Amino acid sequence: MRIPVIAGNWKMHTKSAEAISLTEGIKSGLKGIESKEVVLCPPYVYLSVVQEVLKGSSVRVGAQNGYFQPQGAFTGEISFTMLKDIGCACVIIGHSERRQIFKEDNDSINKKIKAALAVGLKPIFCVGELLEERQDNTTERVIRHQVEAGLDEISPDDFTKIIVAYEPVWAIGTGKNATPEQAQEVHLFIRKLLAHLSSEAIAKDVRIIYGGSVKPDNIDLLSAQEDIDGALVGGASLTAESFIKIVNGVNKR
Ligand code: PGA
Repeated sequence: MRIPVIAGNWKMHTKSAEAISLTEGIKSGLKGIESKEVVLCPPYVYLSVVQEVLKGSSVRVGAQNGYFQPQGAFTGEISFTMLKDIGCACVIIGHSERRQIFKEDNDSINKKIKAALAVGLKPIFCVGELLEERQDNTTERVIRHQVEAGLDEISPDDFTKIIVAYEPVWAIGTGKNATPEQAQEVHLFIRKLLAHLSSEAIAKDVRIIYGGSVKPDNIDLLSAQEDIDGALVGGASLTAESFIKIVNGVNKR
């Protein structure tokens, strides 16, 4: 049984007053929502304040990144140990903006996934192809490489602690989401790949969520797909109204 996950990735948006009012709106709109796992991922500096506002709610906080070393002389970095310490439930790892703008490679993503798991944080492990890769019909090859490299030397027993996010790069922030069929095709491919790396039984329990221009009006059909277990939401997570509609719109049998 895969409990749907909906994570809001606020990226580098909001200031403290906005972060508080957005969280308050989401908290009150999602009262009593226990059947879905909902996570807000604000910028690091607002994690504690958002967490404070969320007290008494089942909505959790997550971070957008982290560094794999537990502590040390790494100016400007935040460790997973610290994120766990302040109460984060999960952490986004390998987002395409980290891969492209900050040149994160599969090796560092793999180290981060291992380090997050080691302290009990759930990684939201992002993979996705570029537009040129889709046009060249290399989507599966790209995804296979990202998944295999990201999960290298991770015990299959830990796979169910990881949430995989399929985010086609051409759909992120563009308003052009993958069609439900395009997304389902890749989600199924990822699940088969996970089964190959572990077992059918394990792969069946891994949540694979979709990200890339998720909106209140497309979540229903996307999440109705067999292998789509929720959403990673960017732009539409920045207003309480649209995020709540998306959470409520996640349609699972
Ligand atoms: P978007 O972003 O919903 O604004 O397309 C998704 C993401 O980057 O996780």
